[in-house]
Amino acid sequence: MKKLSSRRRHPLAAVVVLLLALAATGGLYAAFAPASKAQADETSQSLTIKEGKKLYEVGCASCHGTGGQGSSDGPSLVGVGAAAVDFQVGTGRMPASTSQMAQIPRKKTIYTQAQIDQLAAYVASLGAGPSVPTKEQYGPEGADIGQGGELFRTNCAQCHNFTGKGGALTKGKYAPSLEGVDPKHIYEAMQTGPQNMPSFPDTTMTEKNKKDIIAYLHAVNGSETENPGGLELGGLGPVSEGLFAWIFGLGALIAVAVWVAARTAKAKKS
Ligand code: HEC
Ligand code: HEC
Repeated sequence: MKKLSSRRRHPLAAVVVLLLALAATGGLYAAFAPASKAQADETSQSLTIKEGKKLYEVGCASCHGTGGQGSSDGPSLVGVGAAAVDFQVGTGRMPASTSQMAQIPRKKTIYTQAQIDQLAAYVASLGAGPSVPTKEQYGPEGADIGQGGELFRTNCAQCHNFTGKGGALTKGKYAPSLEGVDPKHIYEAMQTGPQNMPSFPDTTMTEKNKKDIIAYLHAVNGSETENPGGLELGGLGPVSEGLFAWIFGLGALIAVAVWVAARTAKAKKS
């Protein structure tokens, strides 16, 4: 008994009680706060979907059907996901002006990014599909440009050309130039495979692979101001650039060797 009471009077007792009280308040807060935050998120999410539905009914339903089930003028959008909408509307392909074309072209976007987000949220609510990638996914941090070039040459170059300058396909179709395309849209194109392009889901091409390809395209197609300098060698890759270094490097070495030989010869003579 004596021991207990002496412990109770321990100078640290007050501190311990205070800490316990704080922990309890923290616990209570943790138990209640997320619930109300999730609720707030949920209402704002359903509001976004509602706005998206309104935009959809005006701009898209004539071809894709009132509930996104599709019609003779456009495919079903159930399960295509937010990424497909962000790509199609963000690059101005959608809304299409007509469905009677060999290939629906890229054009000026008529929606703001906020409206595109709303349309994407609505379409995503119709059925699960790939979501819009984050900056961590398509950004340059941790990307391997060399690996990206390798992947691009084996998976994309047959249609888009070696540095993504684009090329014609059959029947009036074409693989567009990838110069100046937003990294997010490049990622989404791989995720969703628009029109005559195959899709590259994460199972066949990992997130890291996609990031590498985007970094490679940025490196070869970066804008003039971002160009690190040097001569354009036709963009044929390491072979021609290596050859260039060989020829000039070897030439310089030979010149030095000749000069040294001439000097030694002269020195021997005198
Ligand atoms: C004039 C008709 C028309 C209108 C209007 C239209 N679309 Fe489309 N949409 C099409 C056609 C046709 C395709 C299929 C293109 C293809 O794959 O050949 C398509 C494809 C799409 C795809 C790609 C689907 C997939 O499988 O990846 C999305 C997403 C899409 N549309 C969203 C929209 C949205 C959002 C709007 C409204 C802002 C819209 N579309 C308006 C005709 C239309
Ligand atoms: C079979 C040929 C083919 C292959 C392989 C292919 N693409 Fe495409 N790609 C296309 C076609 C066709 C389009 C145009 C689709 C459209 O307009 O909807 C396209 C469009 C794109 C776009 C959209 C460009 C823009 O202007 O908005 C990007 C980005 C893209 N491809 C990247 C890639 C990458 C990266 C790879 C390799 C992982 C790849 N593609 C492989 C045919 C191909």
